[in-house]
Amino acid sequence: MFVPDGVVTNERISRLMDTSDEWIRQRTGIKERHYARRGTSSSDLGLEAARRAIADAGLSPRDLDLIVFATMTPDYYLPGNGGILASKLGLTTTPALDIRMQCAGFLSGLQVADAFIRSGTYRRVLLVGAECHASLYPWSEAEWAVMFGESEGPVSPEVYAWGTAQRDRAVIFGDGAGAFVLEANEADDGRGFLGFEMRTDGGHWDKLYVPGGGSASFPYFSPKMFEENKTVPIVEGRQVFRLATTAMPQIVREVLEKHGLSLEALSLLLMHQANLRINEAVQKHLGLPDEKVFNNIQSYGNTTAATLPLVFHEAKQAGRVRPGDLVCFTALGAGLHWGAGLLRV
Ligand code: ACO
Repeated sequence: MFVPDGVVTNERISRLMDTSDEWIRQRTGIKERHYARRGTSSSDLGLEAARRAIADAGLSPRDLDLIVFATMTPDYYLPGNGGILASKLGLTTTPALDIRMQCAGFLSGLQVADAFIRSGTYRRVLLVGAECHASLYPWSEAEWAVMFGESEGPVSPEVYAWGTAQRDRAVIFGDGAGAFVLEANEADDGRGFLGFEMRTDGGHWDKLYVPGGGSASFPYFSPKMFEENKTVPIVEGRQVFRLATTAMPQIVREVLEKHGLSLEALSLLLMHQANLRINEAVQKHLGLPDEKVFNNIQSYGNTTAATLPLVFHEAKQAGRVRPGDLVCFTALGAGLHWGAGLLRV
């Protein structure tokens, strides 16, 4: 995993809009998040995570057969980040593909990588999830300095008003990146991904989306979109919250059932980190004890496609992922897409 060094506490973000540490902690569990500095893109963050994962696997970029990049904050509207990352890794022919499934992007990437490896199409896949959410917002250099604790402010009244209008979304997201290198396990020891269950209900596409910029508009982009703040996400928070707390427990049960496994067999549930209250509700629905879940949203906020590798890496570092464990990943994100996958470590 890789997170940028700029830590933004709730207290600091409260200087930019009408919110408070108390509100953010109570409603989301988030204490702070990391923001990438201006000029750092999601492929830059992804590159650092990719380098670490490749080194951890004892490989070099040339050993990779495919790159899969999941993000909802790509460097450019087009092309996607996969090829940009490949180029930054010094690769000129390795195929790369992009996934646009927001918070479910990394989970979907795991399924894609697993299927390619099982089919024999590719032997080694680099999967990266990376996000730079902070640059969605129009902070000036002076406001940036306030956020990072380098200046006391105050910020301009316009920015304060703008931030307040976006406060439900602005406080929840954070920047970061994570990467996995996946390859076939030739040993007959039952280790690896057992399988995935993925679902999409596109009828909810407008519960969380960016209204401006795209072929549904003519032209794709216009100054009016920016004047009307149509280039930042809209979220129907309560509805997404409700859907997440029912869909995730259900899909976890389904993936276990499909593999003839019970909830008792589960060693650890690693959930997408959109809101600690969502994860507490999912844990309660499933009746799982605290030692079978691991959350890190408190330090990172919602890092969208980067979340699952971040939470896996930190759980592993905390000694919560041991050989032989059965780990279940689950996520739900804009689209709406959701799913669950099982890993025998
Ligand atoms: N600070 C202070 N007050 C706030 C803030 C804030 N940051 N945000 C909203 N409020 C206020 C609202 O204005 C409202 O005030 P009112 O009652 O006077 O009108 C009140 O708090 C309640 O607002 P809600 O939007 O209903 O707040 P809620 O408790 O639902 O929290 C949140 C909002 C955090 C967005 C929550 O709904 C949530 O986490 N939803 C799920 C998001 C999610 O799951 N995303 C996953 C996918 S993300 C992806 O795919 C990219």
